[in-house]
Amino acid sequence: MLYTDKVMDHFNNPRNVGVLDDADGVGEVGNPVCGDMMKISIKVAEDRIADIRFQTLGCGAAIATSSIVTELARDMSLEEAVAITKKQVAEELGGLPPAKMHCSVLATDGLKAAVDDYLVKNGREPISGGLEHDDPHFDPHAVPHEDACDVEG
Ligand code: FES
Repeated sequence: MLYTDKVMDHFNNPRNVGVLDDADGVGEVGNPVCGDMMKISIKVAEDRIADIRFQTLGCGAAIATSSIVTELARDMSLEEAVAITKKQVAEELGGLPPAKMHCSVLATDGLKAAVDDYLVKNGREPISGGLEHDDPHFDPHAVPHEDACDVEG
């Protein structure tokens, strides 16, 4: 399986790893395809992402996509952050193998969950429109498990 240099860079040197102890919002999601998990914590100031960290228990693509999502989301408004798509993530990384596209949903869903968590904790309405993995049209079996977990880095 071929990964771009940028994917390998973010896998080998992931940005913004960890947990914000004083987080304003936290999103924890699991990938129903492979069982991998990710957690995103955010600090919010004036409805923008002021700080962000992630922890991912997953494959190389999940780690690389989580890393790039934290870079993209920093300083974005909450509306912009929940609008980040898996296509945008893949483009930022110079492409992902088709069997790995589902991995990028983990990061975008984690960010959506963190933003909604912040809003709900502050008595406001969630804005993400729901997680992609919860979409009835999302087919967790579209990618065979053995392909999904073909982790080479
Ligand atoms: Fe589980 Fe990529 S997120 S195989």
